[in-house]
Amino acid sequence: MNQDEIAKQNGAAWGAHSYEAWIQAYGTPEEAAAILRGDPQRKLRRILPHLENPANLKIANPLGSHGRIATALAILGADVTVFDISASNQQYALELAASAGVQIHYELGDFIPLANKSQNEFDVVVMELGVVHYFSDLNNFIAALSTLLQANGYVVLNEFHPIVNKAIDMVDGDVVLVGNYFSDNIKQADTPYSVFIEGKSVPLCAIRLWTLGEIVTAFADGGFRIDKLIEEPMSKYQSIPGTFTLVASLEM
Ligand SMILES: C[S@@+](CC[C@H](N)C(=O)[O-])C[C@H]1O[C@@H](n2cnc3c(N)ncnc32)[C@H](O)[C@@H]1O
Repeated sequence: MNQDEIAKQNGAAWGAHSYEAWIQAYGTPEEAAAILRGDPQRKLRRILPHLENPANLKIANPLGSHGRIATALAILGADVTVFDISASNQQYALELAASAGVQIHYELGDFIPLANKSQNEFDVVVMELGVVHYFSDLNNFIAALSTLLQANGYVVLNEFHPIVNKAIDMVDGDVVLVGNYFSDNIKQADTPYSVFIEGKSVPLCAIRLWTLGEIVTAFADGGFRIDKLIEEPMSKYQSIPGTFTLVASLEM
């Protein structure tokens, strides 16, 4: 499958029933907005330690989905643009932001071509939990991130740790090997929001899971300086990694 085919399949998967899923998961946009308004920092806890004052920032949020990150950042005063392929996500995100009394921008479509229309517009790119595996060519994806940024811009990426995404799982407290860490297959996978949907079938996603080395090397090859690479433990099993945060700045 090439990237166009992957994006088409993932657009259909994420467009099918995600609006209903977010209502099941987070409540109506009004209910979810009240929670974000009460404590926007909580939703941003993995990102904020690596950001300067959001009120002064123009932030891009590629693959920002239901808009909870974008809305929380907008509540703190940031000017935020989500880039996402799903109209169903867009509907939830715009209703969420409006209910929270803030404005966000939402660019609807395939990220890489969209990024080329917003060159050098942003101070920071912020991304969270389930982004890089939607791209079959990491170099093209990172070039698109670089396109969005101003000369001294930087990226904050909080992602699932590849060791748990690709190779191991925990079963009854024991580590079990479930996959090949070095596999380069494009695989069919359940679309994450399907766990919130009952009685309707949700199309599968197509994903390419990358190793940590591949991700960090692609940022370095794409002209970024790696400022931080922090591996964070799983919340349930503190002895193995669950997520990582990469902070990388464009080399001037
Ligand atoms: C798992 S979600 C990302 C999580 C999200 N950042 C959050 O904060 O919860 C993946 C998102 O990527 C979007 N997506 C997948 N492929 C895409 C593409 N090629 N261009 C733009 N958006 C894409 C989907 O619509 C979905 O909203």
